Amino acid sequence: MALNNSAAAEPTTSIDRDEIVEGLTRPQKTLPSKYFYDHRGSELFERICRLEEYYPTDCEMEIMRENISEIADRLGTHIDLIEPGSGSSRKTRLLLDQIDRINRYLPVDISSEFLQRVANELKQEYPGLKVIPVTADYTQPFELPLDDSGARRIVYYPGSTIGNFTPDKAREFLKLLAEIIGRDGGVLIGVDLKKERSVLEAAYNDSEGVTAQFNKNLLLRLRNELKADLDPELFEHRAIYNSDEGRIEMHLVSREQQTIRIGDDRFSLEKGETIHTENSYKYSPEQFEKLVSGLYDIKQVWRDSRNYFSVQYLEPV
Ligand code: AVJ
Repeated sequence: MALNNSAAAEPTTSIDRDEIVEGLTRPQKTLPSKYFYDHRGSELFERICRLEEYYPTDCEMEIMRENISEIADRLGTHIDLIEPGSGSSRKTRLLLDQIDRINRYLPVDISSEFLQRVANELKQEYPGLKVIPVTADYTQPFELPLDDSGARRIVYYPGSTIGNFTPDKAREFLKLLAEIIGRDGGVLIGVDLKKERSVLEAAYNDSEGVTAQFNKNLLLRLRNELKADLDPELFEHRAIYNSDEGRIEMHLVSREQQTIRIGDDRFSLEKGETIHTENSYKYSPEQFEKLVSGLYDIKQVWRDSRNYFSVQYLEPV
């Protein structure tokens, strides 16, 4: 993959046409959730995080606020803080405020325009801080700009974004992170917990329809960036909890029999047929421990008052 370590303007991450065609050719059509986050998608996601029904953000903020000094102690001083999928870096500010000496903050994100804007804001808010934005699809191996400070590497991976991976892929990704941070590094990770279906489903079917817009943004991107011939109005948002798999699934449901076209490729959908756009896995504490076993020791787990969410601190075994 291309390494984009400079702070210079980068092209907006574009959609890989072959990847889209491959997903739409499968018996269960799929579109990769990483493509939600163009500029508009990132903004819609920020709105999701402010919704009453979307509990993960509030729960995680509560955990971070209530336990910040304990968390800071775990992370130590003189660290490079690396954040894959940094988005607005909203939760990160709590860490930046608290930790005595952060050598560098390295947000890694696929949406370079958004990343750049946030990096500039942070530089103003934290004048002494070295902010080094890294534009990358962090699901692929990516390089970090080195320095010779000897700072300890801490990966911050909040939001339960780990839930977007299947458990196999999640483990693979955590292994990649272990390589990036090295033997003396650490990982601070947000993990959404299993809970009643009604709470889960409400979080992904908000009453304002923001999540529906977020989901349909994928279709807009296909139309705008791949010149796909399709009508977003002919799709409906659906999010259901699949308890067998332990995950929320988001789909785009075809309202009628239709054919969408991307260049010379045609994809027909029956009425009611779906395009699977996202998984969001939920873990019990035991399941998550099993997921990381052999890779990391779980040093500490913090939870919110409702036991909806957890923040966990891991060190490589
Ligand atoms: C950013 C992947 C953690 O799965 O809850 C929110 C994305 N999708 N609403 C999640 C999302 C629909 C979110 N993650």
